[in-house]
Amino acid sequence: MKFTLVAKDQQSSARAGVLETDHGKIQTPIFMPVGTAGSVKAVHQRELEQDVQAQIILGNTYHLYLRPGIELLEKAGGLHQFNGWKKPILTDSGGYQVYSLAENRKIVEDGVTFKSHIDGSRHLFTPESVMDIQRTIGADIIMAFDECTPYPCDYSYAKTSMELTHQWLKRCVARINSTEPKYGYEQALFPIVQGSVYKDLREQSAEFIASQNQQGNAIGGLSVGEPHEEMYAMTSLVCGILPAGKPRYLMGVGTPENILECIALGVDMFDCVMPTRNARNGMLFTTQGIINIRNEKWKDDLSPIDETLGGYASTFYSKAYLRHLIINKEILGAQIATLQNLTFYLWLVKEARKQIEAGTFTGWKNQMVKKVSQRL
Ligand code: GUN
Repeated sequence: MKFTLVAKDQQSSARAGVLETDHGKIQTPIFMPVGTAGSVKAVHQRELEQDVQAQIILGNTYHLYLRPGIELLEKAGGLHQFNGWKKPILTDSGGYQVYSLAENRKIVEDGVTFKSHIDGSRHLFTPESVMDIQRTIGADIIMAFDECTPYPCDYSYAKTSMELTHQWLKRCVARINSTEPKYGYEQALFPIVQGSVYKDLREQSAEFIASQNQQGNAIGGLSVGEPHEEMYAMTSLVCGILPAGKPRYLMGVGTPENILECIALGVDMFDCVMPTRNARNGMLFTTQGIINIRNEKWKDDLSPIDETLGGYASTFYSKAYLRHLIINKEILGAQIATLQNLTFYLWLVKEARKQIEAGTFTGWKNQMVKKVSQRL
């Protein structure tokens, strides 16, 4: 994997780069649509490529391991073959989902035991097993097994948890170094910085993560309920320590405003369920601001969903029609709203990249933040 920086903003830490994987190039900064169980909900691959113009999508170890199971994924030749997505894939390690979804989870010396949220069956994830599972899923970028600390979290829990994440990371690195990719293309391991909202822990964690010298680095444990200012402060601190020559991935973030602010702090990669999950409830992200399409005020608005954004779904369908579909729980409503939101998110990061290259990012960002976060 190769990462090349092509431009840097003079007034902030924003940068534009190119990340090259064996499944193609990714222009950064980038937003990665979440495809938890091997599908970006409500969007098929052709739309993802042609309308949304996604460059990389996410999968989840926890979900894919439970269903359809790694035996079938191996038989298919990996997730790319199974779901037909030919571009890069990143898989999260399960370090987050085990905490947010599984029941009866327990940290044991070796890893975490948990009960499946699907059928109650018991499982054990260890740093080694999670590396093996991700080898079999076949993602281009695989995440280290970590503990995402909740918020609020007292200092001593955050410290012990961070130390556990670091110990687990050493085992992840050892496992990756002693095993081979299964399908002939490279798989890069990204370690994850933790440390909750404590400055000294974040510094310590970022230094340890950087010392592991992997091909990219991630920032975890944020956007878990802390005030935005704390999230920005931690992101800024950590970006200042992680090496500039490698991609930085901020996990689970966020709103369009969060993404723009964190690009300014030096983040290159983002993922979040917000554009997909909220679409299904009728929350639309547009170039003009945020719309709750269920609201009565859109009832007879026959104007296009987002004319400025362009693209198929945004210009072909009206607000009134989409409102009708969402209110009636029509499947098509979820499809159109998801297309709108993902197309907007991918447009936003592409535009940010253009502005970084043109040397106009900071002024543009300050204006854009106001525009895209207003409620219409
Ligand atoms: N997704 C959002 N935050 C996190 C995190 O801290 N760790 C992992 N593994 N995934 C995440």
